[in-house]
Amino acid sequence: MKTKPIDLAVIGGTGLADLENLEITHREVVHTPYGEPSGPITHGMLAGHHVIFVPRHGAAFRIPPHRVNYRANLWALRHLGAAQILAVNAVGGIRDDLSPGRLAVPDQIIDYTWGRCHTFFEDDLDRIVHIDFTFPYSQPLRGEIIGAGKDADIDIADSGTYATSQGPRLESAAEVDAMATAGADMVGMTGMPETALARELDLSYASCAVVSNRAAGRGEGPITMDEILRNLDRGMKDVRLLLEHLVVRL
Ligand code: HPA
Repeated sequence: MKTKPIDLAVIGGTGLADLENLEITHREVVHTPYGEPSGPITHGMLAGHHVIFVPRHGAAFRIPPHRVNYRANLWALRHLGAAQILAVNAVGGIRDDLSPGRLAVPDQIIDYTWGRCHTFFEDDLDRIVHIDFTFPYSQPLRGEIIGAGKDADIDIADSGTYATSQGPRLESAAEVDAMATAGADMVGMTGMPETALARELDLSYASCAVVSNRAAGRGEGPITMDEILRNLDRGMKDVRLLLEHLVVRL
Protein backbone atom coordinates (compact mmCIF):
# COMPACT_ATOMS: atom_id res chain seq x y z
CA MET A 1 0.00 0.00 0.00
CA LYS A 2 1.35 3.43 -0.90
CA THR A 3 1.29 5.89 2.00
CA LYS A 4 0.18 9.44 1.34
CA PRO A 5 2.98 12.02 1.31
CA ILE A 6 3.36 14.00 4.50
CA ASP A 7 1.57 17.34 4.34
CA LEU A 8 2.76 18.74 7.65
CA ALA A 9 4.96 17.87 10.61
CA VAL A 10 4.08 19.32 13.98
CA ILE A 11 6.51 19.72 16.86
CA GLY A 12 4.41 19.99 19.99
CA GLY A 13 5.55 22.13 22.88
CA THR A 14 4.56 22.35 26.54
CA GLY A 15 0.82 21.64 26.77
CA LEU A 16 0.70 19.81 23.46
CA ALA A 17 1.94 16.28 24.11
CA ASP A 18 -0.58 14.85 21.66
CA LEU A 19 -2.97 16.01 18.98
CA GLU A 20 -6.44 14.93 20.05
CA ASN A 21 -7.90 15.54 16.60
CA LEU A 22 -5.28 13.40 14.84
CA GLU A 23 -6.57 9.97 13.79
CA ILE A 24 -3.43 8.02 14.57
CA THR A 25 -2.40 5.44 11.98
CA HIS A 26 0.91 4.31 13.49
CA ARG A 27 3.99 5.32 15.45
CA GLU A 28 7.48 5.08 14.03
CA VAL A 29 10.77 4.88 15.90
CA VAL A 30 13.53 6.71 14.04
CA HIS A 31 17.20 6.50 14.99
CA THR A 32 19.31 9.35 13.69
CA PRO A 33 23.03 10.08 13.30
CA TYR A 34 22.47 12.70 16.03
CA GLY A 35 20.92 10.38 18.59
CA GLU A 36 17.33 9.73 19.56
CA PRO A 37 14.42 12.11 18.91
CA SER A 38 12.14 13.08 21.80
CA GLY A 39 10.07 9.95 21.11
CA PRO A 40 8.52 7.88 18.36
CA ILE A 41 7.02 9.93 15.55
CA THR A 42 3.23 9.67 15.40
CA HIS A 43 1.61 9.39 11.98
CA GLY A 44 -2.05 10.22 11.51
CA MET A 45 -4.74 11.85 9.45
CA LEU A 46 -6.09 15.29 10.15
CA ALA A 47 -8.92 16.59 7.97
CA GLY A 48 -7.88 14.03 5.34
CA HIS A 49 -4.21 15.00 5.37
CA HIS A 50 -1.15 13.04 6.46
CA VAL A 51 0.34 14.75 9.50
CA ILE A 52 3.25 13.59 11.64
CA PHE A 53 3.85 14.72 15.19
CA VAL A 54 6.60 14.69 17.78
CA PRO A 55 6.24 16.10 21.30
CA ARG A 56 9.40 18.14 21.88
CA HIS A 57 9.51 17.44 25.61
CA GLY A 58 8.68 13.74 25.22
CA ALA A 59 5.32 12.03 25.69
CA ALA A 60 5.72 12.18 29.48
CA PHE A 61 6.88 15.83 29.46
CA ARG A 62 10.27 14.95 30.96
CA ILE A 63 12.80 16.53 28.60
CA PRO A 64 13.62 20.11 29.64
CA PRO A 65 14.28 22.74 26.95
CA HIS A 66 18.09 22.62 27.23
CA ARG A 67 18.12 18.81 26.93
CA VAL A 68 15.87 18.45 23.88
CA ASN A 69 17.70 16.76 21.01
CA TYR A 70 16.67 19.39 18.48
CA ARG A 71 18.92 17.96 15.78
CA ALA A 72 17.49 14.46 16.08
CA ASN A 73 13.89 15.68 16.03
CA LEU A 74 14.34 17.72 12.86
CA TRP A 75 16.52 15.14 11.16
CA ALA A 76 13.89 12.46 11.85
CA LEU A 77 11.03 14.56 10.50
CA ARG A 78 12.93 15.31 7.31
CA HIS A 79 14.03 11.69 6.98
CA LEU A 80 10.36 10.66 6.99
CA GLY A 81 9.65 13.10 4.16
CA ALA A 82 8.30 16.19 5.92
CA ALA A 83 9.06 19.47 4.17
CA GLN A 84 6.86 21.81 6.20
CA ILE A 85 7.13 22.06 9.96
CA LEU A 86 4.83 23.83 12.34
CA ALA A 87 6.52 24.35 15.71
CA VAL A 88 4.29 25.04 18.68
CA ASN A 89 6.06 27.02 21.41
CA ALA A 90 4.84 28.18 24.81
CA VAL A 91 5.95 31.74 25.54
CA GLY A 92 5.68 34.46 28.11
CA GLY A 93 4.16 37.63 26.68
CA ILE A 94 6.33 40.74 26.85
CA ARG A 95 4.33 42.99 24.49
CA ASP A 96 1.11 44.22 26.14
CA ASP A 97 -1.26 42.69 23.60
CA LEU A 98 0.29 39.23 24.04
CA SER A 99 -1.98 38.19 26.86
CA PRO A 100 -2.24 34.66 28.27
CA GLY A 101 -4.05 32.23 26.00
CA ARG A 102 -3.38 34.27 22.82
CA LEU A 103 -1.57 32.84 19.79
CA ALA A 104 1.20 34.63 17.91
CA VAL A 105 3.18 33.92 14.75
CA PRO A 106 6.67 35.33 15.33
CA ASP A 107 8.63 36.77 12.42
CA GLN A 108 11.98 37.30 14.14
CA ILE A 109 14.03 35.57 16.78
CA ILE A 110 16.85 36.38 19.20
CA ASP A 111 19.04 33.63 20.65
CA TYR A 112 20.10 33.84 24.29
CA THR A 113 20.74 30.11 24.65
CA TRP A 114 24.13 28.52 25.19
CA GLY A 115 25.70 25.09 25.22
CA ARG A 116 23.06 23.44 22.99
CA CYS A 117 24.01 21.44 19.89
CA HIS A 118 23.03 24.19 17.47
CA THR A 119 24.29 23.18 14.03
CA PHE A 120 24.52 20.29 11.59
CA PHE A 121 27.52 21.93 9.96
CA GLU A 122 30.51 21.19 12.18
CA ASP A 123 32.09 17.81 11.41
CA ASP A 124 33.36 16.28 8.16
CA LEU A 125 32.78 19.48 6.21
CA ASP A 126 34.01 19.96 2.64
CA ARG A 127 33.85 23.67 3.41
CA ILE A 128 32.38 26.01 6.01
CA VAL A 129 28.66 26.73 5.61
CA HIS A 130 26.90 29.91 6.77
CA ILE A 131 23.14 29.76 6.22
CA ASP A 132 21.17 32.95 5.61
CA PHE A 133 18.96 33.65 8.62
CA THR A 134 17.81 37.20 7.91
CA PHE A 135 14.21 36.06 8.03
CA PRO A 136 14.35 33.04 10.33
CA TYR A 137 10.90 31.67 9.60
CA SER A 138 9.33 30.56 6.32
CA GLN A 139 7.30 33.56 5.19
CA PRO A 140 4.88 31.49 3.04
CA LEU A 141 4.18 29.10 5.92
CA ARG A 142 3.71 32.03 8.31
CA GLY A 143 1.19 33.45 5.87
CA GLU A 144 -0.74 30.17 5.78
CA ILE A 145 -0.80 29.95 9.59
CA ILE A 146 -2.13 33.49 9.85
CA GLY A 147 -4.66 32.72 7.08
CA ALA A 148 -5.75 29.53 8.84
CA GLY A 149 -6.24 31.53 12.02
CA LYS A 150 -8.53 33.94 10.15
CA ASP A 151 -10.44 31.03 8.57
CA ALA A 152 -10.96 29.57 12.05
CA ASP A 153 -11.84 32.94 13.58
CA ILE A 154 -8.97 32.72 16.06
CA ASP A 155 -7.37 35.86 17.41
CA ILE A 156 -3.70 35.66 16.36
CA ALA A 157 -0.94 38.25 16.61
CA ASP A 158 0.61 38.19 13.14
CA SER A 159 4.15 39.24 14.04
CA GLY A 160 6.59 39.50 16.91
CA THR A 161 10.15 38.88 17.95
CA TYR A 162 10.73 35.70 19.93
CA ALA A 163 13.56 35.80 22.47
CA THR A 164 14.91 32.35 23.33
CA SER A 165 16.17 32.03 26.89
CA GLN A 166 18.18 29.12 28.19
CA GLY A 167 15.84 27.96 30.95
CA PRO A 168 14.69 25.87 32.56
CA ARG A 169 14.25 28.67 35.07
CA LEU A 170 12.09 31.60 34.11
CA GLU A 171 13.65 35.04 33.64
CA SER A 172 14.24 37.83 36.11
CA ALA A 173 12.22 41.02 35.59
CA ALA A 174 15.44 42.83 34.57
CA GLU A 175 16.22 40.16 31.97
CA VAL A 176 12.77 40.63 30.47
CA ASP A 177 13.28 44.42 30.43
CA ALA A 178 16.61 43.90 28.65
CA MET A 179 14.93 41.60 26.12
CA ALA A 180 12.20 44.19 25.53
CA THR A 181 14.87 46.85 24.95
CA ALA A 182 16.46 44.51 22.42
CA GLY A 183 13.13 44.34 20.60
CA ALA A 184 11.65 41.11 21.97
CA ASP A 185 7.87 40.72 22.16
CA MET A 186 7.74 37.26 23.71
CA VAL A 187 10.11 34.89 25.47
CA GLY A 188 10.32 31.12 25.30
CA MET A 189 12.95 28.44 25.80
CA THR A 190 12.69 26.28 22.69
CA GLY A 191 12.82 28.55 19.63
CA MET A 192 16.56 28.06 19.26
CA PRO A 193 18.44 26.21 18.00
CA GLU A 194 15.38 24.54 16.45
CA THR A 195 14.58 27.39 14.06
CA ALA A 196 18.15 27.62 12.75
CA LEU A 197 18.53 23.85 12.44
CA ALA A 198 15.37 23.72 10.35
CA ARG A 199 16.90 26.30 8.00
CA GLU A 200 20.12 24.27 7.81
CA LEU A 201 18.02 21.31 6.65
CA ASP A 202 16.20 23.54 4.16
CA LEU A 203 12.83 22.87 5.77
CA SER A 204 9.90 25.31 5.63
CA TYR A 205 9.52 26.06 9.29
CA ALA A 206 7.33 28.47 11.22
CA SER A 207 6.17 28.81 14.80
CA CYS A 208 2.80 29.18 16.39
CA ALA A 209 3.54 30.61 19.82
CA VAL A 210 1.03 30.22 22.60
CA VAL A 211 1.18 32.77 25.39
CA SER A 212 1.03 30.97 28.72
CA ASN A 213 1.77 33.87 31.07
CA ARG A 214 2.86 37.46 31.18
CA ALA A 215 6.69 37.47 31.18
CA ALA A 216 8.47 38.04 34.49
CA GLY A 217 7.79 41.48 35.94
CA ARG A 218 4.96 42.17 33.47
CA GLY A 219 2.14 40.54 35.42
CA GLU A 220 0.93 40.23 38.96
CA GLY A 221 2.97 38.12 41.37
CA PRO A 222 5.13 35.08 40.66
CA ILE A 223 4.62 32.90 37.60
CA THR A 224 3.42 29.41 38.52
CA MET A 225 3.46 26.17 36.53
CA ASP A 226 -0.20 25.89 37.36
CA GLU A 227 -0.95 29.22 35.64
CA ILE A 228 1.23 28.27 32.66
CA LEU A 229 -0.50 24.92 32.14
CA ARG A 230 -3.99 26.36 32.63
CA ASN A 231 -3.48 29.07 30.01
CA LEU A 232 -1.79 26.66 27.64
CA ASP A 233 -4.75 24.34 27.86
CA ARG A 234 -6.92 27.17 26.55
CA GLY A 235 -4.45 28.17 23.85
CA MET A 236 -3.90 24.60 22.65
CA LYS A 237 -7.61 24.21 21.89
CA ASP A 238 -7.13 27.04 19.40
CA VAL A 239 -3.94 25.42 18.07
CA ARG A 240 -5.78 22.15 17.36
CA LEU A 241 -8.55 24.04 15.57
CA LEU A 242 -6.01 26.11 13.65
CA LEU A 243 -4.29 22.94 12.48
CA GLU A 244 -7.48 21.62 10.92
CA HIS A 245 -7.67 24.78 8.82
CA LEU A 246 -3.96 24.88 8.12
CA VAL A 247 -3.61 21.42 6.61
CA VAL A 248 -6.28 22.06 4.00
CA ARG A 249 -4.45 25.22 2.87
CA LEU A 250 -1.05 23.57 2.35
N1 HPA B 1 9.72 32.57 29.81
C1 HPA B 1 10.37 31.62 29.11
N2 HPA B 1 9.75 30.57 28.59
C2 HPA B 1 8.44 30.46 28.77
C3 HPA B 1 7.72 31.41 29.50
C4 HPA B 1 8.38 32.52 30.06
O1 HPA B 1 7.81 33.40 30.70
N3 HPA B 1 6.43 30.99 29.51
C5 HPA B 1 6.39 29.82 28.80
N4 HPA B 1 7.61 29.50 28.36
